[in-house]
Amino acid sequence: MRALGLTDFSAYLEYLKREPQEVKRLLNILTINLSFFFRNPETFAFLEQHQFVEFKKEKGALVFWSAGCANGEEPYSLAILAAETSLLERVTVYGTDIDEHTVTHARAGMYPPSTFQYTPNSIVEKYFTKRDEGYRINDDIRARVRFLHLDLFEKASFGRCDLIMCRNVFIYLNRSAQSKAIRNFSERLKPHGYLVIGKVELLIGIPELKVFEVVSRTEHIYRKLSG
Ligand SMILES: C[S@@+](CC[C@H](N)C(=O)[O-])C[C@H]1O[C@@H](n2cnc3c(N)ncnc32)[C@H](O)[C@@H]1O
Repeated sequence: MRALGLTDFSAYLEYLKREPQEVKRLLNILTINLSFFFRNPETFAFLEQHQFVEFKKEKGALVFWSAGCANGEEPYSLAILAAETSLLERVTVYGTDIDEHTVTHARAGMYPPSTFQYTPNSIVEKYFTKRDEGYRINDDIRARVRFLHLDLFEKASFGRCDLIMCRNVFIYLNRSAQSKAIRNFSERLKPHGYLVIGKVELLIGIPELKVFEVVSRTEHIYRKLSG
Protein backbone atom coordinates (compact mmCIF):
# COMPACT_ATOMS: atom_id res chain seq x y z
CA MET A 1 0.00 0.00 0.00
CA ARG A 2 2.85 2.36 0.88
CA ALA A 3 4.48 1.74 -2.50
CA LEU A 4 1.22 2.73 -4.21
CA GLY A 5 0.78 5.83 -2.06
CA LEU A 6 -2.49 4.48 -0.58
CA THR A 7 -3.27 5.21 3.05
CA ASP A 8 -6.33 3.07 3.84
CA PHE A 9 -7.60 -0.42 3.11
CA SER A 10 -10.78 0.65 1.32
CA ALA A 11 -8.69 2.60 -1.21
CA TYR A 12 -6.50 -0.48 -1.63
CA LEU A 13 -9.60 -2.67 -2.13
CA GLU A 14 -10.79 -0.31 -4.88
CA TYR A 15 -7.34 -0.47 -6.44
CA LEU A 16 -7.46 -4.29 -6.34
CA LYS A 17 -10.81 -4.27 -8.16
CA ARG A 18 -9.40 -1.99 -10.89
CA GLU A 19 -5.99 -3.62 -11.34
CA PRO A 20 -5.91 -7.41 -11.89
CA GLN A 21 -2.09 -7.30 -11.87
CA GLU A 22 -2.23 -6.09 -8.27
CA VAL A 23 -4.24 -9.18 -7.27
CA LYS A 24 -1.38 -11.32 -8.59
CA ARG A 25 1.15 -9.19 -6.69
CA LEU A 26 -0.84 -9.48 -3.46
CA LEU A 27 -1.10 -13.26 -3.85
CA ASN A 28 2.65 -13.44 -4.26
CA ILE A 29 3.20 -11.45 -1.10
CA LEU A 30 0.86 -13.68 0.86
CA THR A 31 2.62 -16.80 -0.40
CA ILE A 32 6.13 -15.71 0.44
CA ASN A 33 7.96 -19.04 0.02
CA LEU A 34 5.72 -20.49 -2.63
CA SER A 35 7.37 -21.56 -5.85
CA PHE A 36 6.88 -24.03 -8.68
CA PHE A 37 9.05 -25.86 -11.15
CA PHE A 38 9.10 -23.95 -14.45
CA ARG A 39 6.98 -21.15 -12.98
CA ASN A 40 5.94 -18.94 -15.90
CA PRO A 41 6.85 -21.62 -18.47
CA GLU A 42 6.89 -19.01 -21.25
CA THR A 43 9.92 -17.39 -19.58
CA PHE A 44 11.80 -20.70 -19.60
CA ALA A 45 10.73 -21.26 -23.23
CA PHE A 46 12.12 -17.82 -24.12
CA LEU A 47 15.41 -18.57 -22.36
CA GLU A 48 15.66 -21.91 -24.14
CA GLN A 49 15.05 -20.35 -27.55
CA HIS A 50 17.37 -17.37 -27.12
CA GLN A 51 19.84 -17.24 -24.22
CA PHE A 52 20.52 -20.98 -24.04
CA VAL A 53 21.10 -21.10 -27.81
CA GLU A 54 23.66 -18.32 -27.32
CA PHE A 55 25.28 -20.18 -24.40
CA LYS A 56 25.61 -23.24 -26.62
CA LYS A 57 27.62 -21.28 -29.17
CA GLU A 58 30.14 -20.21 -26.52
CA LYS A 59 32.64 -22.45 -24.78
CA GLY A 60 33.53 -22.69 -21.11
CA ALA A 61 31.82 -22.88 -17.74
CA LEU A 62 28.45 -21.24 -17.16
CA VAL A 63 27.29 -19.86 -13.82
CA PHE A 64 23.61 -19.27 -13.09
CA TRP A 65 22.23 -17.76 -9.89
CA SER A 66 18.69 -18.04 -8.61
CA ALA A 67 18.49 -15.34 -5.90
CA GLY A 68 15.54 -15.83 -3.53
CA CYS A 69 15.19 -19.44 -4.64
CA ALA A 70 12.64 -20.54 -1.98
CA ASN A 71 12.66 -24.36 -1.82
CA GLY A 72 14.85 -24.77 -4.89
CA GLU A 73 12.28 -25.19 -7.64
CA GLU A 74 13.75 -22.37 -9.74
CA PRO A 75 17.47 -23.33 -9.67
CA TYR A 76 16.58 -26.98 -10.32
CA SER A 77 14.40 -25.85 -13.26
CA LEU A 78 17.41 -23.98 -14.70
CA ALA A 79 19.57 -27.10 -14.30
CA ILE A 80 16.89 -29.24 -15.97
CA LEU A 81 16.71 -26.76 -18.84
CA ALA A 82 20.51 -27.00 -19.11
CA ALA A 83 20.19 -30.80 -19.27
CA GLU A 84 17.49 -30.56 -21.95
CA THR A 85 19.76 -28.31 -24.04
CA SER A 86 22.92 -30.43 -23.51
CA LEU A 87 24.57 -27.76 -21.38
CA LEU A 88 24.41 -29.49 -18.00
CA GLU A 89 28.09 -30.49 -17.83
CA ARG A 90 29.15 -26.85 -18.22
CA VAL A 91 26.67 -25.40 -15.74
CA THR A 92 26.78 -24.63 -12.02
CA VAL A 93 23.56 -23.21 -10.62
CA TYR A 94 23.60 -21.40 -7.28
CA GLY A 95 20.36 -21.17 -5.36
CA THR A 96 20.35 -18.72 -2.47
CA ASP A 97 17.74 -17.61 0.00
CA ILE A 98 17.59 -15.58 3.20
CA ASP A 99 15.36 -18.21 4.80
CA GLU A 100 17.46 -21.06 6.16
CA HIS A 101 14.53 -23.51 6.23
CA THR A 102 13.95 -23.18 2.52
CA VAL A 103 17.65 -23.76 1.84
CA THR A 104 17.57 -26.98 3.88
CA HIS A 105 14.44 -28.07 2.03
CA ALA A 106 16.04 -27.23 -1.32
CA ARG A 107 19.13 -29.32 -0.54
CA ALA A 108 16.92 -32.32 0.30
CA GLY A 109 15.32 -32.04 -3.14
CA MET A 110 11.95 -33.62 -2.22
CA TYR A 111 8.76 -32.11 -3.65
CA PRO A 112 5.00 -32.64 -3.50
CA PRO A 113 3.06 -33.11 -6.76
CA SER A 114 1.58 -29.60 -6.43
CA THR A 115 4.95 -28.03 -7.35
CA PHE A 116 4.71 -29.55 -10.85
CA GLN A 117 1.63 -27.75 -12.10
CA TYR A 118 3.66 -26.03 -14.88
CA THR A 119 5.91 -28.99 -15.63
CA PRO A 120 5.22 -31.53 -18.40
CA ASN A 121 4.88 -35.11 -17.10
CA SER A 122 7.69 -36.20 -19.41
CA ILE A 123 10.09 -33.87 -17.53
CA VAL A 124 8.92 -35.08 -14.12
CA GLU A 125 9.42 -38.69 -15.21
CA LYS A 126 12.86 -37.98 -16.66
CA TYR A 127 14.39 -35.91 -13.83
CA PHE A 128 12.61 -37.08 -10.64
CA THR A 129 12.15 -40.34 -8.79
CA LYS A 130 8.86 -41.08 -7.04
CA ARG A 131 9.31 -41.53 -3.30
CA ASP A 132 6.35 -42.09 -0.94
CA GLU A 133 4.09 -39.03 -1.31
CA GLY A 134 6.51 -36.94 -3.35
CA TYR A 135 9.25 -36.77 -5.94
CA ARG A 136 13.00 -36.50 -5.46
CA ILE A 137 15.22 -34.65 -7.92
CA ASN A 138 17.68 -37.03 -9.57
CA ASP A 139 21.34 -36.92 -8.56
CA ASP A 140 22.75 -35.77 -11.92
CA ILE A 141 20.70 -32.55 -11.66
CA ARG A 142 21.28 -32.17 -7.93
CA ALA A 143 25.03 -32.39 -8.43
CA ARG A 144 24.99 -29.22 -10.55
CA VAL A 145 23.05 -27.09 -8.04
CA ARG A 146 24.55 -25.57 -4.88
CA PHE A 147 22.43 -23.97 -2.21
CA LEU A 148 23.60 -21.20 0.09
CA HIS A 149 21.95 -19.26 2.86
CA LEU A 150 22.48 -15.70 1.61
CA ASP A 151 20.80 -12.33 1.74
CA LEU A 152 20.69 -11.02 -1.80
CA PHE A 153 22.34 -7.78 -0.67
CA GLU A 154 25.43 -9.64 0.55
CA LYS A 155 28.37 -10.34 -1.69
CA ALA A 156 28.12 -13.83 -3.09
CA SER A 157 31.21 -16.00 -2.68
CA PHE A 158 30.90 -17.56 -6.14
CA GLY A 159 32.19 -16.27 -9.47
CA ARG A 160 30.50 -13.86 -11.84
CA CYS A 161 27.33 -15.07 -13.47
CA ASP A 162 26.06 -15.58 -17.00
CA LEU A 163 22.46 -15.42 -15.82
CA ILE A 164 20.75 -14.25 -12.64
CA MET A 165 17.12 -15.02 -11.93
CA CYS A 166 15.51 -13.05 -9.16
CA ARG A 167 11.78 -13.47 -9.51
CA ASN A 168 9.01 -12.60 -7.12
CA VAL A 169 11.44 -11.08 -4.64
CA PHE A 170 11.46 -7.42 -5.75
CA ILE A 171 7.81 -7.15 -4.71
CA TYR A 172 8.97 -7.32 -1.08
CA LEU A 173 11.51 -4.52 -1.50
CA ASN A 174 11.14 -0.76 -1.38
CA ARG A 175 12.64 1.42 -4.09
CA SER A 176 16.00 1.93 -2.40
CA ALA A 177 16.39 -1.79 -1.67
CA GLN A 178 15.45 -2.55 -5.30
CA SER A 179 18.22 -0.18 -6.46
CA LYS A 180 20.72 -1.81 -4.14
CA ALA A 181 19.76 -5.29 -5.38
CA ILE A 182 20.07 -4.25 -9.04
CA ARG A 183 23.50 -2.71 -8.32
CA ASN A 184 24.62 -5.95 -6.65
CA PHE A 185 23.35 -8.02 -9.59
CA SER A 186 25.06 -5.81 -12.17
CA GLU A 187 28.34 -6.28 -10.27
CA ARG A 188 27.81 -10.03 -10.05
CA LEU A 189 27.04 -10.45 -13.78
CA LYS A 190 29.63 -11.04 -16.48
CA PRO A 191 29.63 -8.48 -19.29
CA HIS A 192 26.49 -9.11 -21.38
CA GLY A 193 25.07 -11.41 -18.70
CA TYR A 194 21.32 -11.71 -18.23
CA LEU A 195 19.01 -10.69 -15.41
CA VAL A 196 15.48 -12.14 -15.21
CA ILE A 197 12.95 -10.64 -12.83
CA GLY A 198 9.39 -11.76 -12.09
CA LYS A 199 6.56 -11.25 -14.54
CA VAL A 200 4.48 -9.37 -11.97
CA GLU A 201 7.38 -7.10 -11.03
CA LEU A 202 7.83 -3.63 -12.45
CA LEU A 203 11.06 -1.77 -11.87
CA ILE A 204 10.36 1.86 -12.60
CA GLY A 205 12.70 4.79 -11.98
CA ILE A 206 15.63 2.62 -10.89
CA PRO A 207 18.75 4.43 -12.15
CA GLU A 208 20.88 1.28 -11.72
CA LEU A 209 18.91 -0.30 -14.59
CA LYS A 210 20.68 2.06 -17.01
CA VAL A 211 23.53 -0.41 -17.33
CA PHE A 212 21.04 -2.92 -18.78
CA GLU A 213 19.16 -3.18 -22.04
CA VAL A 214 15.74 -4.81 -22.22
CA VAL A 215 15.85 -8.15 -24.02
CA SER A 216 12.22 -9.15 -23.51
CA ARG A 217 9.53 -6.78 -22.25
CA THR A 218 7.07 -9.63 -21.77
CA GLU A 219 9.44 -11.97 -19.92
CA HIS A 220 11.21 -9.18 -17.99
CA ILE A 221 14.68 -10.19 -19.20
CA TYR A 222 17.53 -7.65 -19.15
CA ARG A 223 21.07 -7.82 -20.49
CA LYS A 224 24.01 -6.08 -18.91
CA LEU A 225 25.52 -3.72 -21.45
CA SER A 226 29.22 -4.28 -20.64
CA GLY A 227 31.86 -4.03 -17.90
C1 LIG B 1 7.88 -15.95 -3.57
S1 LIG B 1 9.44 -16.69 -3.29
C2 LIG B 1 10.07 -16.71 -4.94
C3 LIG B 1 10.73 -18.01 -5.30
C4 LIG B 1 11.19 -18.09 -6.75
N1 LIG B 1 12.16 -17.08 -7.06
C5 LIG B 1 10.01 -18.00 -7.68
O1 LIG B 1 9.80 -16.97 -8.32
O2 LIG B 1 9.25 -18.97 -7.75
C6 LIG B 1 10.41 -15.37 -2.56
C7 LIG B 1 11.67 -15.85 -1.85
O3 LIG B 1 12.54 -14.73 -1.68
C8 LIG B 1 13.21 -14.89 -0.46
N2 LIG B 1 13.75 -13.59 -0.04
C9 LIG B 1 13.07 -12.48 0.36
N3 LIG B 1 13.94 -11.49 0.66
C10 LIG B 1 15.19 -11.98 0.44
C11 LIG B 1 16.51 -11.44 0.58
N4 LIG B 1 16.73 -10.19 1.01
N5 LIG B 1 17.55 -12.22 0.25
C12 LIG B 1 17.37 -13.49 -0.18
N6 LIG B 1 16.15 -14.06 -0.32
C13 LIG B 1 15.07 -13.31 -0.02
C14 LIG B 1 12.13 -15.45 0.47
O4 LIG B 1 12.69 -16.08 1.60
C15 LIG B 1 11.39 -16.40 -0.47
O5 LIG B 1 11.90 -17.71 -0.36
